[in-house]
Amino acid sequence: MTPQNAPETVVSRCLVIGSGIAGLQFALLAAQGGPVRVVTKKESRESSTNYAQGGIAAAVSPLDDFASHVRDTLEAGDGLCREDVVRRMVEAGPRLIDRLLGYGVAFSREADGGLALGREGGHTRRRVLHCRDLTGREIEERLLAACTAHANITVDEDHMGLELVRGAEVGLDGAAAARIVGARVLDRRTRQVVLHLADAVVLATGGCGKVYLYTSNPDIATGDGLAMAFRAGAELRNLEFVQFHPTCLFHAEAKSFLISEAVRGEGAVLINHRGVRFMARHHPQADLAPRDAVARAIDQEMKASGENCVYLDLRHLDRAMVEARFPNLVAACRRFGLDMAGEPVPVVPAAHYMCGGVAVDLEARTTLPGLFAIGETACTGIHGANRLASNSLLEAVYFAESAAAAVAAEPRLFGARLPVVTAPGAEATAGRAATLPVVVEHDWDELRRVMWDYVGIVRDRERLEIALGRVRAIRRTVETVRRRALPTPELAELANIALLGELIVICALSRPESRGLHYTLDHPGRQPVAVDTVIRRGVPLAGEACWEAPGADVG
Ligand code: FAD
Ligand code: SIN
Repeated sequence: MTPQNAPETVVSRCLVIGSGIAGLQFALLAAQGGPVRVVTKKESRESSTNYAQGGIAAAVSPLDDFASHVRDTLEAGDGLCREDVVRRMVEAGPRLIDRLLGYGVAFSREADGGLALGREGGHTRRRVLHCRDLTGREIEERLLAACTAHANITVDEDHMGLELVRGAEVGLDGAAAARIVGARVLDRRTRQVVLHLADAVVLATGGCGKVYLYTSNPDIATGDGLAMAFRAGAELRNLEFVQFHPTCLFHAEAKSFLISEAVRGEGAVLINHRGVRFMARHHPQADLAPRDAVARAIDQEMKASGENCVYLDLRHLDRAMVEARFPNLVAACRRFGLDMAGEPVPVVPAAHYMCGGVAVDLEARTTLPGLFAIGETACTGIHGANRLASNSLLEAVYFAESAAAAVAAEPRLFGARLPVVTAPGAEATAGRAATLPVVVEHDWDELRRVMWDYVGIVRDRERLEIALGRVRAIRRTVETVRRRALPTPELAELANIALLGELIVICALSRPESRGLHYTLDHPGRQPVAVDTVIRRGVPLAGEACWEAPGADVG
């Protein structure tokens, strides 16, 4: 029974925030131990997972081995990966793929029935399992179907996590007072805040591509889990390592449309506006170099020529092969008036993946008891300074499994008894000022443009400092409005991308070297020792300069 004047309260063994591959795989495993509640802010399938194209990397071929998958991952990560963690994930790969097959994921197969394997940048072998060019959609659908059929799993669509809740806020004492025991969740349809309580809370909210004006990410990628964790005091790491995917379609009407790296894996090449191949001048692996190197090379070509894009050239490839392997991409290009197999396709880099995130250990535990993070939201040590293509989906299922095992051992805080709820909910904010929708929209655009213009592929101190001033000013304004206003999804997302923008800039300013995805003209070389950038609310950052304690005024 809900105490009077308290928000509606829902209790479960585990609360999962997010329904991409990480959240759903976790839910399926954790549901063996009790009720799991998945809240997701839009339709359940709406996630980056749903748009993944290239596939999921695993050393399953007799022509491949774990050592070379580990080596390729470390090479791409530019000295910042945690080798022990990478090895564990890589060695688990074939087993994790078997589990996906068990859910019915229909990976593409060769004529002899064997699994078809693609190649992408940075991989020295063919090891990318895929479902033609719609890998993510197939995985998302199968996992969702399995969750829907599971008696212990409930998925609440249109429920958006706003803030994490500590035990003390709901009347728990002792060690439980300091634990994260739930979240305030906005029901987008009723606009009411629901209090979700659980023995373990799992952030699986994906990335934050929407911090940038141009991104491959869907609209849900506003870094909500990262922001919630930071505001609650968790440690975040390596936020400067934003991965820009080299090849998003450059077309006035194309929003966030990726042309998979798997296309280059099948032989496509990059050419400039004069029709000349350029990647061999930039990297020994040429068109199949790791992503940081390809994005930087494209950036350099575009700056040198003054052109707005470069081109992917497939004209030398067999048209039937291209149409059979990439039917979705061919059809999408056709909708934009382009013949993918028959003419150069204009492409540009766009923000794609957050390699940093909420710091977690091998069991996906964050630095806050009771709180776990998995998938793109987490920083596990797998990706280092630059993620190897198609390792994200693998990392998500690997850490979903680790987290599910760890959560089984968590104490039971909530039995039949509900705590005394004192946490403010919808009522506490009802009647306050309405939001300022126009301002929100303008701030949203300005912030994303500043991040794009000043915190992109190539950085320098002067630009970063300009960005910090502008982003911080927006973040402070939005925080002030948010404290006075009724919670809305738009305002919450704007507050989150503004906070993430500021944290990305602070982390970038604090790394006095160029490594992986962080390239700064002030320090073109690498420091001899690789260190993580660690950031926590109210704690000054060590680095080239000691930055103001971030977020002291974040409420
Ligand atoms: P997501 O799949 O993004 O899921 C996040 C979930 O959290 C969503 O359900 C979202 O609605 C929900 N959510 C977010 N905020 C809240 C909130 N406040 N409250 C409630 N719910 C919330 N990686 C690969 O390894 N291989 C690929 O081929 C590949 N291709 C890609 C192609 C594209 C176009 C993109 C964008 C990414 C690609 N990636 C690929 C990266 C990979 O898809 C993602 O990193 C991965 O899917 C992330 O999974 P996730 O479960 O962590 O998050
Ligand atoms: C792609 O298909 O190019 C994306 C792969 C990835 O991000 O891992």
